[in-house]
Amino acid sequence: MESLLKLLLLLFITVCHRVLAATPSSPPPSSAPSYPEEALPTKSGYLTVNSTTGSAIFYAFYEAQTSYNKTPISESPILIWLQGGPGCSSMLGNLREVGPWILNQELTLEANPGSWNQIFGLVFLDNPIGTGFSIARSNQEIPRNQYDIAKHLFIAIQKFIALDKSFKNRPIYLTGESYAGKYIPALGYYIIKMNSQLPKESRVNLRGVAIGNGLTDPEIQVSTHAINSFYLGLINEKQTALLEKLQMNTIGFIRRGKWSEATDARNRVLDTLTNITGLATLYDYRRLIPYQNGVVDKFFEQCRGEEGVRSEGRQIFREVQQCGEWCVARGCDEEREGQRDLKDGVPSTLAWVKTMRWDGIPGFLEAERKVWRVDGKLAGYVQKWKSLSHVVVLNAGHLMPSDQPVNSQVMIQDWLLERGLFAS
Ligand SMILES: *[C@@H]1O[C@H](CO)[C@@H](O)[C@H](O)[C@H]1NC(C)=O
Ligand SMILES: *[C@@H]1O[C@H](CO)[C@@H](O)[C@H](O)[C@H]1NC(C)=O
Repeated sequence: MESLLKLLLLLFITVCHRVLAATPSSPPPSSAPSYPEEALPTKSGYLTVNSTTGSAIFYAFYEAQTSYNKTPISESPILIWLQGGPGCSSMLGNLREVGPWILNQELTLEANPGSWNQIFGLVFLDNPIGTGFSIARSNQEIPRNQYDIAKHLFIAIQKFIALDKSFKNRPIYLTGESYAGKYIPALGYYIIKMNSQLPKESRVNLRGVAIGNGLTDPEIQVSTHAINSFYLGLINEKQTALLEKLQMNTIGFIRRGKWSEATDARNRVLDTLTNITGLATLYDYRRLIPYQNGVVDKFFEQCRGEEGVRSEGRQIFREVQQCGEWCVARGCDEEREGQRDLKDGVPSTLAWVKTMRWDGIPGFLEAERKVWRVDGKLAGYVQKWKSLSHVVVLNAGHLMPSDQPVNSQVMIQDWLLERGLFAS
């Protein structure tokens, strides 16, 4: 059972200025005139999640570039990428992080040396409906909790698998960052639950989940900003006390189930931290300018419609990660974190991981944190116990794969194939 599912926790942040949204009549990006031929996905289109209304999740699939270890491409694992936000298009991850082509500031595409589809299939889903190129026929249909999000994603994944005979038996791994730290555990849990009720041929072959710089348990995570910033030397004791007060205020709202107030209170923590430190972005305290993700919007300009589901952000505090705990208990997981992320960075992840109800946690906390090198160069640290791996990626912020493309590729491949420090 232990090897059935694995979990990878990564830390990245959500950086999207606007949601890429398409009205139902807008064309998918593959028909946009400026989209170069060589960067087109192997397959893309719509996976209907509600046959009554026609609401649908947009997908872009890139087949593996080469085979590995004599495993034919048609049998290689498939990674599913979910962006955070909530309400950020996965085209951000595609064109700025892990896809085979990366968009630069000149709005041209360059081959990504760290693409995650080098040896695995890679599919980007715009989730939930109403986000990016996905279609929500009505506002009422846009999910407002993790259970409904998982339900739609499960239907979409089943439809995706049905697109090609070879997809059926390929191992599936859920990956994503930031607010996907909520989607991924919820979806993992839902898949395991559904699989137990379905005949073998209708199951989703889920083998592991990987969360990068995830916002998974805000109540615990919000309490780490002050102390983390203090020990980084960014704020003094008086400012630490001020931030701690704001953090407690947020936690108070969460405990009373006041989700909107909690969201505003958390934003006050983060805004105050930004103001008093003068940092360009909390997503990476060393950056002099924020991540330039607006290029993705510019690139898809001709497809842009109305904004997606920003209101769903109000739900940030609603869902706790019980299913994450459940998933790990089944033996699933990896986490990875860009170390310079002040928002959903290393200390904030370690704080919630420690509270997981999984009998492997004492073993994990005692496990040695090993120095991780890529081509002889220091890349970060790996701590692993049974199915749970935690990776700290050095010299990276919230969008870790964009800061460390090659190391991110080595990480995802070694983790999935249980090589190097990830060997069991
Ligand atoms: C499909 O849409 C209808 C009408 O809004 C709704 O009643 C139904 O629950 C939806 N089904 C799913 C799977 O979301
Ligand atoms: C941060 O600074 C901006 C600009 O000076 C100001 O508008 C905002 O209210 C400040 N936010 C907080 C939480 O202090």
